[in-house]
Amino acid sequence: MVAATGSSRDGWSSRTGFVLAAVGAAVGLGNLVRFPAEAAANGGGAFVLFYIFCILLIGLPIMLAETLIGRHGQASATESVKKMAEESKASTAWSGLAGLGILSAFMILAFYCVIGGWVLYYIGIFVADLFQSGVTGGALQNMTPEGIKEIFPTLLEKGWLMALLDAVFVLVTVYFVARGVSGGIEVASVWLMPAFFMLLLGITIYGAFGGAFGEAVSYLFTVDFSKLTGDVMLAAIGQAFFSLSLGVAGMMTYGSYVGKEVNLAKTSTMISFADTSVALVAGLCIFPIVLAAGLSSDGGLGLMFDVLPHAFQSMPAGSLIGLAFFVMVGFAALTSSVSLMEGPTAWTMGKFDMSRAKAATLVASMALLLGVASAYSFNAISDFHPLGFIPLFEGEGVFSVLDSVTAKLFMPIGALLTAIFVGWVADRQLVDAENGLDGGLHQFWRFLVRWVCPLALTAILIVGIFPSILGS
Ligand code: PFF
Repeated sequence: MVAATGSSRDGWSSRTGFVLAAVGAAVGLGNLVRFPAEAAANGGGAFVLFYIFCILLIGLPIMLAETLIGRHGQASATESVKKMAEESKASTAWSGLAGLGILSAFMILAFYCVIGGWVLYYIGIFVADLFQSGVTGGALQNMTPEGIKEIFPTLLEKGWLMALLDAVFVLVTVYFVARGVSGGIEVASVWLMPAFFMLLLGITIYGAFGGAFGEAVSYLFTVDFSKLTGDVMLAAIGQAFFSLSLGVAGMMTYGSYVGKEVNLAKTSTMISFADTSVALVAGLCIFPIVLAAGLSSDGGLGLMFDVLPHAFQSMPAGSLIGLAFFVMVGFAALTSSVSLMEGPTAWTMGKFDMSRAKAATLVASMALLLGVASAYSFNAISDFHPLGFIPLFEGEGVFSVLDSVTAKLFMPIGALLTAIFVGWVADRQLVDAENGLDGGLHQFWRFLVRWVCPLALTAILIVGIFPSILGS
């Protein structure tokens, strides 16, 4: 066992187990739905280039900062920050940064599982279609393009169905979390992530031969610097954070199950590299298919749930590819929802001295309640705007508020506090003993955590809160 340094605490069974679980946490709907959609909405290449820049200079350093806090603490995220604060003779109030992260993870979990439920619905559609349309032909042969366009809005009208599918997705998630770190979370990642990579590669190769691959490459990688506006930069930073699962104490929690012999700088680099590669390959998987069908997307959830099913209609073996595609998305979403549930579960176990199974069930039940409210916010309670009194969240329903509050406020605040804590507050020797860096790279990382990350995060917060600064 790699972790559990002398205690009976559960931990990853190997370094590979940790890396796969962390890659599983990072790779999710963000890579497959949000990244291609954001790239499409923000002018392709300029966004992609700036995104990579953000991963290297802001995301990667913060990932190392988060995992080292967890590894040092070997406890839940709040306890880990508290321990490092105490040993650094700083205020234990810093543990609030992890508390905020755990709250964010819980909020994201609630709406993330609703989307997971949508993915299950589409898996069902393509399974049924495989029987109807057959293996070789295009998908959804018995539907008109207009009919396909209606699938998603019709689903959004059915609150009860979305709630039911949400419940199924939450149940599968809690199954793995309740079984523990090495026996549940790691097992899920070790099986699902390789399967995910095979499906992604298979569909991408298919698209490369049958789709408009060249067009997709030039769309994603031709950089037009005039498109690099403040809005685009902000979208890229926000996406980088969401994609690497930062600012929600998740990487702290996963780091707390890692043993001392693991070099966290190396593992953080591997995780960030894998996550970014998947985002780019996802773009190269989705756009050739969409462009070959003569379709386009200006971003948003419609790219996956509306434009793609439409594109599968004109593809040979469309039902099979459609099914493989949504199964792949489901695997990625599941390993991420597991990580979102783990932070709040570990905290509940520590705080209330509860067994893992009970804590996970409690977290899952509460997330489901909030998820059901999110599902109904598309229909029955669409007029309910929980934070309507705050101009920033005016007109947003439950689903949208959970997304906006975490993305615009909580995640950047959590990450900003983490950078300040690790860069300025924590005892330097404690930090240096954990980070696995030396020489110039060490100096550079320290510079990034102390200066670049806090400044960039403050900028995101200010511009996110006062969008008029950018004139948008
Ligand atoms: N990184 C995940 C994705 O790209 O879909 C989302 C996510 C998972 C965010 C876990 C935060 C987290 F703790």
